Amino acid sequence: MNSQSLSRGSASIRPFALSLSVAARAALKHQQPCCLWLTGLSGSGKSTLANALEVQLNEQGRHTFVLDGDNLRTGLCNDLGMSDAARKENIRRIGEVARLMVDAGLIVIVSAISPFSADRATAKALFGPGQFFEVYISTPFDVCARRDPKGLYRAALDGRIKAFTGLDSPYEAPLAADCEINTDEVELADAVGHILAALFKK
Ligand code: ADX
Repeated sequence: MNSQSLSRGSASIRPFALSLSVAARAALKHQQPCCLWLTGLSGSGKSTLANALEVQLNEQGRHTFVLDGDNLRTGLCNDLGMSDAARKENIRRIGEVARLMVDAGLIVIVSAISPFSADRATAKALFGPGQFFEVYISTPFDVCARRDPKGLYRAALDGRIKAFTGLDSPYEAPLAADCEINTDEVELADAVGHILAALFKK
């Protein structure tokens, strides 16, 4: 397949108008579909929180799915590296998949560093009013580096990994997240309760 055949679709493509609405699909599940978007440094606790949120929501009878950066990078995004452009494309794909899942009626929890404000804003713009809920996992760099669950901080500090977020690749913290959690200060169960309370309030 040459690059021409992989390039953007023709301008003549028009979306087909489906009969069933998002609301009609969601009504079967008795839930309001939305996307909880968890952003923060590597090792900040995003995946742990996303997992706990999904378990809690499932116990409440909600139909959920977690889109985790590390997991997606073994499949859908396994052709992408860690350059700024690759991260942008990673977040574009995750945002589009999350949007499709919300259209299908699910509560989607995204867990990805998503370091650039503009890319998060682009993802947010895919959703309707009240469908996108941004959670900033603000666990500080020093704490993440101390935890270092995958040994990546050590490798990055030793120069064995380049373009590491928070070191030689930027992390742009959200300025107006819907909710903020520092997992160094809040217990997991409390963090889950706090996020869900803020979500349901909104
Ligand atoms: S993002 O920046 O494009 O949003 P994503 O969340 O999908 O990143 O993937 C980040 C994961 O890749 C981290 O949790 C970590 O396990 C791994 N990783 C490998 N190299 C790097 C790097 N240079 N910077 C940050 N994370 C990295």
